[in-house]
Amino acid sequence: MTHINHKDIRELGDEFGTPLYVYDKQKITENYNRLNNAFVKHYPKTKIHFSVKSNSNVHILNIFQQLGSGADCSSPNEVMLAQKAGFADQDIIYTGNYESRDDFVNLKNHSVQINLDDSTSFDRVIEHFIPKIVSFRINPGIGKGGHEGITTGGTDAKFGIPYEYAAEAYKKAKQQGVSKFGIHMMTGSNNLEPYHFAQTVEKLMLISKNIFDQIGAKPDFVDIGGGFGIPYEDDELPLDIEKTAELVTEIFTEKCQKYGFGEPYLYLEPGRYLIADAGWLITQVTGTKHSYKNFVGVDAGMSTLLRPALYGAFHRTYLYGKEGEDTVVNLCGQICENSDVFAKSVHLPVAEIGDLMIIRDVGAYGYVMSSNYNNRLRPAEVLIDNSKPKLIRRRETFDDLISLIP
Ligand SMILES: Cc1ncc(COP(=O)(O)O)c(C=O)c1O
Repeated sequence: MTHINHKDIRELGDEFGTPLYVYDKQKITENYNRLNNAFVKHYPKTKIHFSVKSNSNVHILNIFQQLGSGADCSSPNEVMLAQKAGFADQDIIYTGNYESRDDFVNLKNHSVQINLDDSTSFDRVIEHFIPKIVSFRINPGIGKGGHEGITTGGTDAKFGIPYEYAAEAYKKAKQQGVSKFGIHMMTGSNNLEPYHFAQTVEKLMLISKNIFDQIGAKPDFVDIGGGFGIPYEDDELPLDIEKTAELVTEIFTEKCQKYGFGEPYLYLEPGRYLIADAGWLITQVTGTKHSYKNFVGVDAGMSTLLRPALYGAFHRTYLYGKEGEDTVVNLCGQICENSDVFAKSVHLPVAEIGDLMIIRDVGAYGYVMSSNYNNRLRPAEVLIDNSKPKLIRRRETFDDLISLIP
């Protein structure tokens, strides 16, 4: 591998330094248009809200805003970032988890849509204001994600209100004078199977029928969350998004008719599908070691890209300009933790100090999870648009590191 969006990776490394996150604007645009077209052609009232938690660089958010997306936020600060990127309040959704009183005080000044995590969240929010539309995140009692760490529904999940208790929560909102409602469910991330989405929607629609029959209302929107996966490994097939959209919208429209829901908005909150494969991490080999195993160390670590250490996530890696599988190595970072391994027993060409090591599919849940652990500095971020690179976040400095200490 030598180029990203026609730009030589070595030149990027020389100009901006390493480690470096690089994003491809054309790829982001293609991903958005593919997903949006697939759904909108079957159900025009589909609305995408890009999941800000997956990548919150304001320049990236602005691309989605320009494409016509809304924003899905998981904290009041994400709401403010989305506003900074140009999103209007009516295009912003906030879905919290154990929302604090302060979170709600903060949200009071913004007329964004809120998906409440629980009936007790409703009790807290009405201490400050009554949302115009009330929506709860439903936990259907089951969940499915690419692995355990990214499964967000089921009896072990900390998210949402158990579906059996949801009708009571909506009734409570109705008693407080609320007359507009939505409903939300997101049971896991990185799913590659179209039927998973169809089954999820079917389940959510059935739960919705039970709730909305009891309160005598129709949903203004049904939010099925994100979770659209990408293939991180060579032997995985990409999610068939055309099929997914066809199955989901078919069940959705059929159930809307059957249950007398009219034509609510169908909200999607994708993160990974839109940005993961449009991001690369450029690192530089800093050392090679023949210990009990072969190790190659680079100038990044779990402080730069946490996913492998956090969930054992796999990312494909390449050495700039080198091909072959001459060695089997563990590819490591510089952090003082033995879990700071990007890939175990990978077949790579022979690496030498100064080689560039490229880690792919890091556009989602990459930079946003970076930290200063070991007092390492966060990397820079660059966006390539039509082969022109632009710095969209500078590299941290030691002064940044100590800037909060009085
Ligand atoms: C409520 C909610 N919406 C959207 C997302 C984005 O998920 P993904 O990146 O899998 O599309 C998540 C991720 O966990 C989530 O919890």
